[in-house]
Amino acid sequence: MREIRVAVVGIGNCASSLIQGLRYYSKKQKETIGLMHYEICGYKPGNIKVVAAFDIDRRKVGKPLEKAIFSPPNCTKTIEGDVLPSNVKVSMGHVFDGVSPHMKDYPAEKIFLVSKDKPVDVAKVLKEKNVEILINYLPVGSERAARFYAQCCLESEVSFINCIPVFIASDTEWVKKFRQKKIPVIGDDVKSQIGATIIHRNLVKLFHDRGVTIDRTYQLNTGGNTDFLNMLNRERLVSKKISKTEAVQSMLDVPMPSENIHIGPSDYVPWQKDNKVCFMRLEGRIFGDVPINLELRLSVEDSPNSAGCMIDAIRCCKVARDRGVGGVLESISAYTMKHPFRQYPDEIARTMVEEFIRGERER
Ligand SMILES: NC(=O)c1ccc[n+]([C@@H]2O[C@H](COP(=O)([O-])OP(=O)(O)OC[C@H]3O[C@@H](n4cnc5c(N)ncnc54)[C@H](O)[C@@H]3O)[C@@H](O)[C@H]2O)c1
Repeated sequence: MREIRVAVVGIGNCASSLIQGLRYYSKKQKETIGLMHYEICGYKPGNIKVVAAFDIDRRKVGKPLEKAIFSPPNCTKTIEGDVLPSNVKVSMGHVFDGVSPHMKDYPAEKIFLVSKDKPVDVAKVLKEKNVEILINYLPVGSERAARFYAQCCLESEVSFINCIPVFIASDTEWVKKFRQKKIPVIGDDVKSQIGATIIHRNLVKLFHDRGVTIDRTYQLNTGGNTDFLNMLNRERLVSKKISKTEAVQSMLDVPMPSENIHIGPSDYVPWQKDNKVCFMRLEGRIFGDVPINLELRLSVEDSPNSAGCMIDAIRCCKVARDRGVGGVLESISAYTMKHPFRQYPDEIARTMVEEFIRGERER
């Protein structure tokens, strides 16, 4: 079997959904429900193997991975309870700025509890386990921690898939480093399958393409997982706001004045757990300056919503490695990430990914 050897940093809800999903789809034959591609260049979801994992929470560190993904404060819906024993124990990572101080004001079962274990040598573990790709699922605002793990990838020739809004795969200097070492990199800030970002982008594009002037818009999001609790600390949100706002603004020839566009996580509602609710509004003017407004409410389990995108990103990354291509993978980044190196409308990004898969496009 052609394995894709993956490591994950941050064994939270997203990692849990991804790992459950790998087992879920490996049990199915040609199951395409919920996936954008069942097979990419011969790789099926079942070919992806998680061989190393890093976290800092004492309820996860030292535990078998298949148990850690179901440990608190993880709270996403179980889509596959039968995750096979993997022989992978969660290693102690490096905390840096991964844990926001405000979390201490909330109940233990809702927050990160830092382990007293000594951090491992991450680059060494990546080499020992022959890891090909490291997936970054750290909390929003982990600027130093994310750069640390990215640097470990450069040192061990491992690809980095950056699911969070710390700018690495969209930063010229970092991209240059990965390109010089011929290591593929994908990012930044994963875009869900049908999430607030892709809907907002496409509604803004629809209004724009139909000649409607958009005067104002907002996107307010609530949720009850640790991602939303973490984002109550507004100081951690600078890059998240940039990432989400640029994803929408990039659909317009002339961006809206910043005071007329408001996008962000708006509140933490503990009982929502991993259910995310998005309230969106667009106000504009159609023919004859006549007003129009549109309101939308999206309700979706947050973490499984991005796992399918990740399964495609992992396989495209592996294909690039097989082909000896390094640097930022622009097509899959534009398709699956909110803040890619270059923004493209989603249907163009999708065509670019198909060209990449067929070998007609290098990156
Ligand atoms: N659809 C989605 O769910 C979605 C979409 C876009 C972006 N993201 C981003 O993906 C990231 C992961 O989301 P999540 O819901 O899994 O978050 P989470 O809060 O459930 O998990 C984060 C994990 O990181 C661990 N951690 C904290 N600091 C660490 C460190 N220094 N080293 C190693 N581990 C550390 C925590 O213990 C926890 O297990 C977040 O930044 C989120 O914003 C998620």
